[in-house]
Amino acid sequence: MATVKEILHSMDYGPAPEAKDAVTAWLGKHQSGFRHYIGGAFAAPKDGKLFEVHNPADGTVIAKVAQGSVADVDAAVAAARAAYPAWSKASGEKRARFLYAIARHVQKRERFLSVLESIDNGKPIRESRDIDIPLVARHFYHHAGWAALLDSEFPGMGAVGVCGQIIPWNFPLLMLAWKVAPALAAGNTVVLKPAEYTPLTALALAEICDEVGLPKGVLNIVTGDGATGAAIVNHPDVDKIAFTGSTEVGREIRKATAGTGKKLSLELGGKSPFIVFDDADLDSAVEGVVDAIWFNQGQVCCAGSRLLVQEGVAERFYDKLKRRMETLRVGDPLDKSIDIGAIVAKVQLDRIKSLVEKGRQEGAACFQPSSPLPSKGWFFPPTLFTEVEPASTIAQVEIFGPVLAGTTFRTPDEAAALANNSAYGLSASVWSENIDRCLDLAARIKAGVIWINGTNMFDAAAGFGGYRESGFGREGGREGMIEYLAPAKQKSSKDAAKAKLSAEPTSSAFAGEPALDRTAKLFIGGKQARPDSGYSYSVLDAKGHSIGQAGLGNRKDIRNAVEAAAKATGWTSLSGHARAQVLYFLAENLSARADEFAARLTAMTGAAKKAARAEVDASVSRIIHYAAWADKYDGRVHYTKARHVTLAMPEAWGTMAISCPDEAPLLGFISLVIPAIAMGNRVVATPTPLHPLSATDFYQVLETSDVPDGVVNIVTGERDLLAKTLAEHDEVACAWYFGGADGVALVEKGSAGNLKATWCEAGARDWLGAESQGEVFLRRATQIKNIWVPYGE
Ligand code: NAI
Repeated sequence: MATVKEILHSMDYGPAPEAKDAVTAWLGKHQSGFRHYIGGAFAAPKDGKLFEVHNPADGTVIAKVAQGSVADVDAAVAAARAAYPAWSKASGEKRARFLYAIARHVQKRERFLSVLESIDNGKPIRESRDIDIPLVARHFYHHAGWAALLDSEFPGMGAVGVCGQIIPWNFPLLMLAWKVAPALAAGNTVVLKPAEYTPLTALALAEICDEVGLPKGVLNIVTGDGATGAAIVNHPDVDKIAFTGSTEVGREIRKATAGTGKKLSLELGGKSPFIVFDDADLDSAVEGVVDAIWFNQGQVCCAGSRLLVQEGVAERFYDKLKRRMETLRVGDPLDKSIDIGAIVAKVQLDRIKSLVEKGRQEGAACFQPSSPLPSKGWFFPPTLFTEVEPASTIAQVEIFGPVLAGTTFRTPDEAAALANNSAYGLSASVWSENIDRCLDLAARIKAGVIWINGTNMFDAAAGFGGYRESGFGREGGREGMIEYLAPAKQKSSKDAAKAKLSAEPTSSAFAGEPALDRTAKLFIGGKQARPDSGYSYSVLDAKGHSIGQAGLGNRKDIRNAVEAAAKATGWTSLSGHARAQVLYFLAENLSARADEFAARLTAMTGAAKKAARAEVDASVSRIIHYAAWADKYDGRVHYTKARHVTLAMPEAWGTMAISCPDEAPLLGFISLVIPAIAMGNRVVATPTPLHPLSATDFYQVLETSDVPDGVVNIVTGERDLLAKTLAEHDEVACAWYFGGADGVALVEKGSAGNLKATWCEAGARDWLGAESQGEVFLRRATQIKNIWVPYGE
């Protein structure tokens, strides 16, 4: 045995294993196979199929788990549906009590759950014990609070229905908590599928639910692989899907749910930048890197996997980092002094190896420390690539392993450009002692979470989620609750999707005719433009007589309009106050022409004079309403950790596509376009094809109201075709569609390309009603960026 003196010399730690007896005993009890948790009971898979679960630290089989079939998913959804009426009608306080109880039981079993998580996933016990499981409890507590506050904080909102939730393997129980806690708090019932590599803590949580007496069927857990997940996604009686996982599967789910009326939130991959300026505290930044990319073996969606270092300090920083890498210990996840554990599965390890090989082939310099890896199990050393070309594979592809790709930059502009040179936009970490510089970068980086002089900070009170191909929707805090709520009146969005619009245009309305001079033109980049096709179509009145012509826009017109919108960035950087001034002017100019607009409505739709005038007046009031909001739609400061300011800032999407409804030709258009531009977006709007002339008249009002060129672009024509083109356009960040059920499906499917956010409604809405005005439109017109600013010495 080594003497104390020798140990002081070698500084060798020696093993410090965490006891695993309780977990081994629990696994032993289930040797014959784990079952699903359906309707409050543990149920064997209907077709008897099981699959094996491994311990990544040694590759051994630790459990056999039920492989969920379509029949198992059917049973789980039926149980959730049966439990829904009572659970959604229960008082928020009652639901809060159950969530509190789950939180307490998780805390009581913290050590058991931590050890189980580490054995199942391979993550160091230090992380499961100090981060994952405490945060699980925190999420249940926090959302117990939201359940109790639901009526006062979300008036007029209620549960969505049965939620299907599919989670990944990197934070198995934590991802469950992120999804289950808000869903149950809002009154939904749930069918959840854990990842096939790591189903065990979810099943342990099912036992906790049983213990606390959670009503049967409120939470159902079906284990299985991607096929089981797909069965949940495709189940007709599921109202919402929440998914965390790869962007590829997220895209598939977007396509599969398109047009079904299922609400959807997606938390997908990332390739997040970790930016170090030359005035950063370099030693702290080195520790930041350790946390950013070697936490959980780099299997973190928001891992800081692209290191961007300012040129002047790059060599010094790399030297410090390499020295630190030599001290990282890779080994048994249950050893309390291990820094880096095992990779979750052999297939994942092989993927990492092949991407690292690719990095070498692409010519980047690769550094790996000399410390040894365990002889068995699935381990990979911490790896640093330098001299990485920004366009190379390892700078663009999510590796999901302990691999960092380093590049240098010279100026803040270059840092921002490199940071945004990614299809993803999940998070970013900015290191500088100059807070001005940090906040400037935070505003310019397109990502849902920004950490200043820190990284991987999470809390139940702050929203988490991505921009761009990192998905849409937020988890955590007030923002996350919204994902599990729907307007109480709208029983289920699926009902709306089923409703067919009687007023849907028939294709014969679009039989092309050569353009006449009196054709209302398109409005693109502040200019009236003839449609590229050279064709127009007749606009008919209520009796079927032609009252004018509208341009038949096509793909090229849409492209031009999107280009014009993309250029009008000045509008987005204006202050809310400045935008408000323009909107007030717009209202004034529309008001001055109220008679003319009312007459046009009567001519197009046959509406009585009074009703037409009421629509114009409501349109004027609506513009004034959003002018008032333009400088008041604030973000929040979340209470997360002590000595942290966590700013939740709403940001405009950029370019939005808006397809307007047939009912209320003017008010429908105004109700959608105005809140979007009030928030700083630029818009390509397609008016109702049946009665487009109010919208085309409106461009004259835009022209006289100081609305900058390109902020509102109007393309008339066949709405669904145009909407599809817009949904498929990569420059469009968000698409709203109000029309027929077929159009909803086209837009949702088309949006899968760059995973843009959508807001689609089929069926008529009361545009004069209170539900067609207000905060919900502003929320949909923005996405939240959470900026974490720790402070103090
Ligand atoms: P994955 O996206 O296939 O798996 C995530 C979850 O989705 C699992 O529960 C899986 O069973 C389920 N799933 C798979 N196919 C499905 C389908 N068609 N319909 C419904 N559910 C389905 O991720 P995988 O294959 O485990 O990992 C591959 C890569 O994905 C990783 O290397 C990493 O780059 C990325 N990934 C990203 C995650 C994140 O949090 N952003 C989490 C997991 C993986």
